[in-house]
Amino acid sequence: PRAGTATLDWPALRAAVSQCRACALCESRTQTVFGVGHEGARLMIVGEAPGENEDLQGEPFVGQSGKLLDNMLRAIGLARDAAKPEQAVFICNTVKCRPPRNRNPEPAETAKCAPYLERQIELLQPRLLLAMGRFAAQALLGSDDAIGKLRGRVHQRTIGAVSVPVIVTYHPAYLLRTLADKARAWDDLCLAASVLELPA
Ligand code: URA
Repeated sequence: PRAGTATLDWPALRAAVSQCRACALCESRTQTVFGVGHEGARLMIVGEAPGENEDLQGEPFVGQSGKLLDNMLRAIGLARDAAKPEQAVFICNTVKCRPPRNRNPEPAETAKCAPYLERQIELLQPRLLLAMGRFAAQALLGSDDAIGKLRGRVHQRTIGAVSVPVIVTYHPAYLLRTLADKARAWDDLCLAASVLELPA
C-alpha cells in the first residue's frame, strides 16, 4: 500500500521490496529484483517483470533481451554500470517478482507492485522515463493503447510527487522477434537522447 512506501529512502525501499508478500508471486520467486544502476541517473528504464535469469541473479535484464538493451544504451553513450551520473541509467521493472513460467503479470499483481515503482521514481527524480513494452506503458501512462500508438513522442506525466517526461518504446524481447521494428526503437532511443541532451 502507498501509505507504507511514501516516505521510504533507498535502503528502506529496497528492504521493503525484498520482504514483500503483497501478492502470490512471492511464493514462487527466488528473490525480488529491485533494479540496478545509479541513484543519480537521469534516465530511468522500466521493463515488464523479471524472467528466469533475473529471478536467479536478482538483477533486471541480464538475459538475451538485456544484452540487446545494453547494446542500445551503449549506442547513445549510456551504461548500467556507469559511475558518472550523466552516463548512467537506472533499470527496473513494473513488477519486482518473476511471474511463474514468464506469464504476463496480472493486473492485481501490477497494482500491488505500483507503489514501489512510484517511490523509485520519486527517489530518483529522473529527467526521463523510458517505458519498454505494454506493461510499463500501462503502469506509467495508464493507457492500454498499443505501443505503436504511444511511441514516437514525449508524454508528460505526474507520477507520485514528480512531473516527468515519458517515452514509450518496444520491449527488447519483442525486438528480438520482430526485427522490422528495430529501426523504430532506434528512433525512440534517439528521441530519448535528445530529451536528455546527450552529445550526438
Ligand atoms: N524482461 C523484462 O521486462 N525485464 C527483465 O528484467 C528481463 C526481461
